[in-house]
Amino acid sequence: MNSNKRPEAMQRITTPELAKAFIDEQIQAIRAEVGEKKVLLALSGGVDSSVVAALLIKAVGKQLVCVHVNHGLMRKGESEQVIEIFGKELDANLIYIDATDRYLDKLAGVSSPEEKRSIIGAEFIRIFEEEARKLDGIEFLAQGTIYPDIIESDGVKAHHNVGGLPADLQFRLVEPLKLLYKDEVRIVGEELGLPHAMVYRQPFPGPGLGVRCLGAITRDRLHALREADAILREEFDRCGLAERVWQYFIAIPDLKSVGVRDGKRYEGWAAIIRAVNTVDAMTATVEDIPYPILHRITDRITKEVEGINRVVYDLTPKPVGTIEWE
Ligand code: XMP
Repeated sequence: MNSNKRPEAMQRITTPELAKAFIDEQIQAIRAEVGEKKVLLALSGGVDSSVVAALLIKAVGKQLVCVHVNHGLMRKGESEQVIEIFGKELDANLIYIDATDRYLDKLAGVSSPEEKRSIIGAEFIRIFEEEARKLDGIEFLAQGTIYPDIIESDGVKAHHNVGGLPADLQFRLVEPLKLLYKDEVRIVGEELGLPHAMVYRQPFPGPGLGVRCLGAITRDRLHALREADAILREEFDRCGLAERVWQYFIAIPDLKSVGVRDGKRYEGWAAIIRAVNTVDAMTATVEDIPYPILHRITDRITKEVEGINRVVYDLTPKPVGTIEWE
């Protein structure tokens, strides 16, 4: 259980039965380790932290304290889904923090992508630390570390960045998924009863829409981005592309162009569609979205989202482009 190396003989979890056996075994192990103590978890709503939360709720119930920080850079409906599923359906001990203003005030006027990422990461640690200090008797910190995180880094997820917590806030780690690959985590998540859409969710960067609202983030452009992205996701769901395409999203540059509406010239932003397929995110190819679908998405975004007057499709593979725009 403490080893960070996956034993050669460990069977790959490929069926609900194998997932159930894994869950039963982990529940016993977690109960034995945690006892009556409390466990803290940063619940982003991503696949890994959601599966860890569902597993720990089964194992230790209300001894788990989930903290969901809404940094204001979530996609449309994501924080609401976390509250609905974990707060209501699973009746978890969930602390919801709407830190939108805090983040957006700190990010105002900041255009460098590195600086934006560093502000978003540092603010997360600050908020998480503040919450941890308010709670009594927490001894454990649960994390959604999975096996690729261990192989590719030192085992700490860059965007969770718990390595940044101060020395007096040292917790013992609970990492029940640390020997699993992503496909196994998904099967375990489904067996735990999490919704398919949550368990098979496309990857979403830790800094969220912050790195898709290009350059210095403004609230109006961020709002337009969130709405346009929701339309893209809706249309991909509707025509079956969501099941097939690895990652798809909208980015909006800090640039306006001239358009015309109701016979009048006006300036608006351009929404960039990105839709790529990849195995490991090191290289990626662009999905061939059929033209009628592109036309429909363009039509909806320009009609329904205030401030957007153009939609363009990014046809650049990785390399030479990266998947994200910044
Ligand atoms: P790039 O843009 O480098 O992206 O081709 C490769 C994959 O990584 C995701 N990505 C991030 N994930 N924090 C994250 O957690 C980040 O700062 C970050 N930047 C890129 C990106 O969405 C893609 O899946």
